[in-house]
Amino acid sequence: MRLTVIGCGYVGLVTGACLAAAGHEVFCTDIDENRIAQLSAGKVPIYEEHLGEVLQRAVKEKKISYTTNTGEAIRAGEVIFICVGTPPKESGEADLSAIDHVARQIAMEARTPKLVVEKSTVPALTGVQLQKALAAYSPDGSIKFQVASNPEFLREGTAVGDFFHPDRIVVGVEDEKSAETLREVYRPILEKQFHCPVHAGKCPANTGGELLVTTISSAELIKHASNSFLALKISYANVIADLCERIGADVEEVTHAMGLDPRIGTQFLKAGLGFGGFCFPKDIQAFIHLSAAIGVDFDMLKAAERVNKQRIDRFFDKVHKALWVIRGKRVAVLGLAFKANTDDIRFAPALEVIRRLLEEGAQIQATDPQAISRTKPFFPNISYVDDPYEAVKGADAALVCTEWPAYKKMDWEKAGHQMSRRLVIDGRNLYDPRKMQALGFEYYSFGRS
Ligand code: UDX
Repeated sequence: MRLTVIGCGYVGLVTGACLAAAGHEVFCTDIDENRIAQLSAGKVPIYEEHLGEVLQRAVKEKKISYTTNTGEAIRAGEVIFICVGTPPKESGEADLSAIDHVARQIAMEARTPKLVVEKSTVPALTGVQLQKALAAYSPDGSIKFQVASNPEFLREGTAVGDFFHPDRIVVGVEDEKSAETLREVYRPILEKQFHCPVHAGKCPANTGGELLVTTISSAELIKHASNSFLALKISYANVIADLCERIGADVEEVTHAMGLDPRIGTQFLKAGLGFGGFCFPKDIQAFIHLSAAIGVDFDMLKAAERVNKQRIDRFFDKVHKALWVIRGKRVAVLGLAFKANTDDIRFAPALEVIRRLLEEGAQIQATDPQAISRTKPFFPNISYVDDPYEAVKGADAALVCTEWPAYKKMDWEKAGHQMSRRLVIDGRNLYDPRKMQALGFEYYSFGRS
């Protein structure tokens, strides 16, 4: 099929690449000329494992093209995926201006009927507004538009694998024809008719989800409800961690045992600096706002958001307890990205940690395997090193902010010799307290004595 993707960010680019790998002809467009120029030159503007390989193959097979000419891209595809950003406003409400702008462009530029699919994460009832906007903006109402919702469930760092092996594909439609069209789009994915870069072409049998057809509002709600539930789990684990610290229990042992009940599951019960990224923080805010707007008080989510915001305060309680005076101290910050295996620093706890350390006069040496270049413009006056062993050289403390595998495997015996004080304050509970103490470290973490 001929598919258009509007917005070449973390969602749009992965969507376009994987649908091209599935055999469709994909037309990608973005208003960011630099991004389109990078893509056209074969560069990948974001770090996402396997994405480069999938894009390269798609370009070679002439399955994907990039343009800043949105009108041309709109006319080329029969199905249009809207993958633009929906950031939170000051109020917490989702800012849908990019969606509205794209709706106007589609209405003005289309010359044939289109299925317009909202893939960006949007609050429920957006589909209704999108339908109205398309009708209102089309010059003479001659072109008919159908709207559908097809939320993404991609996790940054594993997005390509998540797209090729979805637990579920959710499509919200208003008519059977739209459902059939989207079944056709995703058939090659569900039938594994693509070269999988994750499994080098041989996917295990049990990694195929199912395609669920529902209404547009249900599909929109499934996304917010799923993300918010995951965020709720994380905040729940963080309150358990606060309890463990006061009782002298171990949150890792408590949450592990809890998770052995399949009704609970062990994932997303990791205590620490809490959730960042461009999804959880904004999705929770949008969901709280939407619920309030329709008269349902989502107290649980407000509590989850409050707990998450307090993580930085809890972390600094430990920093102050360990360092006493921060001014003039040399502090190594290990990890800048909001989570491992991505270069994305949006809403990353590490940025707030650095801001507060600077405010209190610390000298910072920051490191991260992928996110240094994205961080530099925000904090140009701190030093950055690629090697974490370099970062801890001469440091009075090492603060771990991101759960990178490289930090998990860090040789603290070796690192300890470089430090001026063997002090680690671990925001992601990567290490065993007993082992760190045996190496002569003062070790602070969440939910463990
Ligand atoms: C999330 C959802 O997982 C995904 O399904 C949705 O499509 C987009 O939002 P993402 O934001 O990429 O994906 O990252 P995720 O892996 O969910 O982690 C989010 C944050 O939670 C990270 O900051 C991570 O460090 C933190 N986290 C995760 C915890 O603090 N504890 C955990 O146990 C798990």
